[in-house]
Amino acid sequence: MKRTKVIDALKRTDFGAEINVKGWVRSKRGSKGIFFIALNDGSTIKNIQIVGDDANFPEETLKRVTTGACLSVDGKLVESPAAGQASEIQATQIEVLGDCDNTYPLQKKGASWEYLRTVAHLRPRTNTFGAVFRIRHNMAMAIHSYFHQHGYFYFHTPLITASDCEGAGNMFQVTTKNLYDLKKDEQGKIIYSDDFFGEQTSLTVSGQLEGELGATALGAIYTFGPTFRAENSNTPRHLAEFWMIEPEIAFMDQEELMDLEEDFIKYCVRWALDNCRDDLEFLNKMVDKGLIERLEGVLKEDFVRLPYTEGIHILQEAKAQGHKFEFPCEWGDDLASEHERYLVEEHFKKPVIMTDYPRSFKSFYMKQNAATPDGGSIGYKGAVAPGPTMQGTDVLFPSIGEIIGGSVREESYDKLMTEINRRQMDMTHLWWYLDTRRYGSCPHAGFGLGFERLILFVTGMQNIRDVIPFPRTPKNAEF
Ligand code: 4AD
Ligand code: MG
Repeated sequence: MKRTKVIDALKRTDFGAEINVKGWVRSKRGSKGIFFIALNDGSTIKNIQIVGDDANFPEETLKRVTTGACLSVDGKLVESPAAGQASEIQATQIEVLGDCDNTYPLQKKGASWEYLRTVAHLRPRTNTFGAVFRIRHNMAMAIHSYFHQHGYFYFHTPLITASDCEGAGNMFQVTTKNLYDLKKDEQGKIIYSDDFFGEQTSLTVSGQLEGELGATALGAIYTFGPTFRAENSNTPRHLAEFWMIEPEIAFMDQEELMDLEEDFIKYCVRWALDNCRDDLEFLNKMVDKGLIERLEGVLKEDFVRLPYTEGIHILQEAKAQGHKFEFPCEWGDDLASEHERYLVEEHFKKPVIMTDYPRSFKSFYMKQNAATPDGGSIGYKGAVAPGPTMQGTDVLFPSIGEIIGGSVREESYDKLMTEINRRQMDMTHLWWYLDTRRYGSCPHAGFGLGFERLILFVTGMQNIRDVIPFPRTPKNAEF
């Protein structure tokens, strides 16, 4: 008999039909010679109930129906007398496809997140992780759908690269060299000319620079792929391998960039509410009671658009009124997550798009705001800053902090080169990037959304290790 997925079986109303389902036993109980099996096949958070009379099945078979075992069940689809389910199956035949003994690590309910990370090979079989990974899939579909509908082209940028986009030096090296026998030159530097690519290469931290090549040819592109950062950050928000979405758009200015960031995130959140209802309701009940309300809330409000300089004023005012921050927040300091969270969660109580950051801690490629004679600069809507600023445009989210990092790009060859020289950057490997400013340069902008941070927000999960199937973090590359 052809298999019916549980999600489809639960929707069928042709009661009396013969049906086959396959899946894993979530639980089995019995009463007065009747057994009840909750069977799940991953197609939905919901289980289908299998009912049968002990007397009609070999005792040997029923003994093997244990939590975690894999079954194929033939039976009759019937209307369920039990509340909360339309249909169930009256079993006529049960075949055990895979036995599962009592060493199965997922037998007990209420295991800690930490414990479940040690069994990441099995945790997708739990209700919570099943829900999270189905939502993760849905968010990927939402992203492709959004950009496809808006005329963006999916542009594939390389994972192996000889350049460091963010200039932060947090890169994993890629080599086929014999690490026990490294040839070095007279200054003691490793010789790479005989390595696989003939030069030093790494895993990419961002596809942006190649994305800009796409945007300045196809008009609007997006990337969606893994990125790698060897930052030794053991936080609930950082992974060494994470997925990033990077749209890049020709002729886009700062205001339009903020519009895009806001519209795009709202589209993804709406998609989750429209397409992941059962999983969200489960998470709302079991993981985070305010989840659905928070998701609906984000759709209703306009994000705040806030120049960095104004943000610093707000933080200093809070400090003057007795609010304690661990880290300094003078003009020119990079914001710590406590600052971001104060602005988003306490002051505005909604998402904030922060813009016009000091150039001291932002990347070389960002568009420079016009300078004032006294060393300041003029930014978004004419706001004046006391020092040089760039059109970096990040989105800060409640409980997540930075979810998007973006900017308008500096399109002037001369201004870009001045900045590159000021930073004493070695551009040997980025000659091709400079060509975009040399040949028909155009205003353009883009951003990077951390996929797992979006999933954190949409699922209400607290730790980024729990929204990717197999997390990569310092000292951890298992599975
Ligand atoms: O702010 P970032 O470093 O920006 C860029 O890489 C730009 N090149 C993007 C662009 O303009 N095209 O990273 C972008 C986003 C962050 O806002 C954050 O959501 C996520 O990527 N991110 C991380 N997510 C998980 N683990 C990490 N270690 C992350 N680092 C950044
Ligand atoms: Mg950033």
